[in-house]
Amino acid sequence: MPAQLRSQRLNQATHAPHERLDTLVKSYAPFNNRENFSHFVVAQYRFQLQLQPLYRDPRLIALIPDLSARCRAEQARQDLIDLGVAPPATEPGELHDLPVAAALGWIFVSEGSKLGAAFLIKRAEALGLSETFGARHLGEPEGGRAEGWKRFIRMLDGLPLSEDENAEAESAAIAAFERFSELLRQAYAHVALA
Ligand code: HEM
Repeated sequence: MPAQLRSQRLNQATHAPHERLDTLVKSYAPFNNRENFSHFVVAQYRFQLQLQPLYRDPRLIALIPDLSARCRAEQARQDLIDLGVAPPATEPGELHDLPVAAALGWIFVSEGSKLGAAFLIKRAEALGLSETFGARHLGEPEGGRAEGWKRFIRMLDGLPLSEDENAEAESAAIAAFERFSELLRQAYAHVALA
């Protein structure tokens, strides 16, 4: 049997975490109103801020030339301003100087979330938001969602990584889902759910 592509392994390893996160997102009803949505954007902003050092890492830019343009921290920050929410203070987080394989696992999750964003932006539009106001971070990336994802996956699948590094990328991707879930819980911690 041919060896599985790295991206397929990552998809498999993160299937259950993605399902759990999807359920968690829905439990907060982020699209019921703009206020609920703004908490979701706080989590997205904090997640992107934590990933920023990876999107700027020269070792990764050597592999993915347009990497720094893919980060959505600035769009999420603008979204918060549009929504009348002060962006939380910068938090550097600890995601720098990660081994390349682990960094790619984190970026895989952040880039993959742009696919789900195609659905989420439609829901945001029902709140009067768009990729130029309030929901910029869910917008279509330049060059298209599918194309950007395919280019990323082609690069990822083409890298020569050891078996240990593959495992490291998978653990990192799972950690990224856990991190986003935790940021979501924090963002909604003080909100009374209907
Ligand atoms: C922080 C990370 C992520 C978040 C917050 C997230 C969130 C979501 C949510 C809430 C949906 C449901 C949209 C709807 O049906 O209304 C969704 C769908 C989707 N997500 Fe994610 N996602 C993340 C990461 C990923 C990753 C890593 C991938 C790909 C490897 C991915 C691929 C998809 C796809 C293809 C859909 C479309 C519906 C489906 O096939 O289930 N997402 N995502």
